[in-house]
Amino acid sequence: VIVDGVHHRTVVRDGPVVDLIDQPRLPHHFARIRSETLEDTARHIRDMTVRGAGAIGATAAAGMAQAALLGSGDVLARLEAAATVLRATRPTAQNLFHAIDTVLDAARPVSGSARLEAALRAADSVIEADAAACAAIGRAGSPLFTDGMRIATHCNAGWLAFVDWGSALSPIYRAHREGKRLFVWVDETRPRLQGARLTAWELQQEGVDHAVIADNALASRMRLGEVDAVITGADRIATNGDVANKIGTYAVALCARAHGIPFYVAAPRATFDPTTPHGDAIPIEERAPEEVGYTWGRDDAGAFRRVATTGSPCRNPAFDVTPAELVTAWITEDGVHTAPPASR
Ligand code: MRU
Repeated sequence: VIVDGVHHRTVVRDGPVVDLIDQPRLPHHFARIRSETLEDTARHIRDMTVRGAGAIGATAAAGMAQAALLGSGDVLARLEAAATVLRATRPTAQNLFHAIDTVLDAARPVSGSARLEAALRAADSVIEADAAACAAIGRAGSPLFTDGMRIATHCNAGWLAFVDWGSALSPIYRAHREGKRLFVWVDETRPRLQGARLTAWELQQEGVDHAVIADNALASRMRLGEVDAVITGADRIATNGDVANKIGTYAVALCARAHGIPFYVAAPRATFDPTTPHGDAIPIEERAPEEVGYTWGRDDAGAFRRVATTGSPCRNPAFDVTPAELVTAWITEDGVHTAPPASR
């Protein structure tokens, strides 16, 4: 992301330190945070200081490198222990598991000092591959968007959700830089408001015309003919093409189908799970009910405000599954696929 003319990657490995954009402080304050221990790195993933499938994967890769570099004793034992800690942070984003497995697979067959080198190389390759894939998704997807189009998106699958560029927003940024005038409807994305807080902020940095709407406003915009296409990201894609993404995506896809509007999903190959045959087998994270019962984000006095009736239980499923039949095309680093692309 470019902030005040300076290019920032969302996740940077700096030796044994993991350097992150502090996302809960956005959009009102831009700051970076340096995570110096594996425990802190895992906590930053769990509490969503860093969030978004690609950024979670890159942070996990850097966390594995951190574990390999810090401490004493057998490197492989440290990596395996770190893998257990990191796997327990968030269950849905496939990129997390892909990153951990990539580092373990690189370290296991080698021994001695070569093992540490192999782990670090693999961690860096996960981070670089994420950035490269997102840039390629932008190139592949931008031709779908022509001058004057009005595009809807849900949640944040932009720069902040990856190391760089993003998935769903990458084709929009690319098309915008190619000179196309685009307009983006930004779903606010309750409960954590990734749309209102993060996507809108990113679009502002890049100068893309947009408006934030309540999640329940998009259907009427479609009915009024004000939406030409939808593009979202994905947290995990099953081999049959079913897509797990931020809660609310399924409703958007159903509305798009009802109004004959194309529904695109953009994701790097690292989001495709070769071991999950269909969406019902994807683990769906349920987060703390307080995220629903309170407005997410602090008021001027620094407090979270309760909005739900006191005493009423809240439920907070963080993701839903959109069946493949509602997806017009899957956009990956190797192109636009109108049938579910084989996973890896
Ligand atoms: O809970 P989050 O913010 O980590 O959720 C992930 C997302 O931002 C979205 O589901 C996104 O569309 C896919 S991640 C690139």
